[in-house]
Amino acid sequence: MLAHALHSQIDMHQAYGGVVPELASRDHIRRVIPLARLVLAEAGLSLAQIDHVAYTRGPGLAGALLVGAGVACSLAAALGRPVIGIHHLEGHLLSPFLASDAPEFPFVALLVSGGHTQLMRVDDVGCYELLGETIDDAAGEAFDKSAKLLGLGYPGGPALARLAAFGDASAVTLPRPLLHSGNLDFSFAGLKTAVRTQVMKLGTNVCEQDKANIAAATQEAITDVLVRKSLQALRQTGLARIVVAGGVGANTRLRERLNSECATRQIRVHYPEMALCTDNGAMIALAAAMRLQRGTAVLQIDHAFNVQPRWPLAGAAA
Ligand code: KG4
Ligand code: ZN
Repeated sequence: MLAHALHSQIDMHQAYGGVVPELASRDHIRRVIPLARLVLAEAGLSLAQIDHVAYTRGPGLAGALLVGAGVACSLAAALGRPVIGIHHLEGHLLSPFLASDAPEFPFVALLVSGGHTQLMRVDDVGCYELLGETIDDAAGEAFDKSAKLLGLGYPGGPALARLAAFGDASAVTLPRPLLHSGNLDFSFAGLKTAVRTQVMKLGTNVCEQDKANIAAATQEAITDVLVRKSLQALRQTGLARIVVAGGVGANTRLRERLNSECATRQIRVHYPEMALCTDNGAMIALAAAMRLQRGTAVLQIDHAFNVQPRWPLAGAAA
């Protein structure tokens, strides 16, 4: 990686307690060109030295995707270079290849973001087999919605994790949905309801310690299910390597639990660098580069706009 830059919209969305799609895409328009200039300057490259332009084709908010696709396609057209549309989740699951301790294929991938919770078998770039996924809320959503119930700010995941450090997880009992379902699917909607019940039980009397205990118990319930299903996926596939990607992969409790469970089983665990856990452009460029290396990149030479707000990862396979 030569350079990478990120503009976070967290401050902007904080006032509304979540992402406002229209504000997000308008801000993308303002930020994307200055950021691209910054990255080029940091890398010491000129526009003429770019061979390909990659962008996120989907899934995601259509308005935000269109800004990236529009800029990428116009830039590539102006430079006379091909453009490559990349699947957002492919970017996440390949992002650990930018870390110093890069994985090797094949591996199990635990994809945990604000919108997705999936276990996959990954044999190579573009060879993804879905092993299980959430039937309702994503893990990040469970963090975010529980945080909201506790009156914590946006984004809820990191805020809940910070508060959990002061809590006692055993003080509150929360369910582990689908833990014994026998398959690799997840469900987090019931957990959010259980957190709501706990918060309501405390009524207006809630003190900081009670909130911290609920935060710790919530984090424990989510990470417990993620870790145990990941181990089940490793057993089922017979693989001895797991890659964790997506925003929730930044959670230190998840890392602690997974590291210790895997260490006793001689299983290697790989994470992206902390800064590349949540959404970033570097992982999209990397996915395009890895596809180019293998000759499996879909090169768009007509530069026509092409976004896919709903796009299963299997549909992006080589
Ligand atoms: O991958 P990502 O940046 O965006 C999506 O593609 O969704 O993931 C964002 C999600 C949010 O739900 C956020 O609360 C969660 O990742 N997250 C965390 C932590 N950092 C980010 N959840 C738990 N603990 C964290 N430290
Ligand atoms: Zn993401």
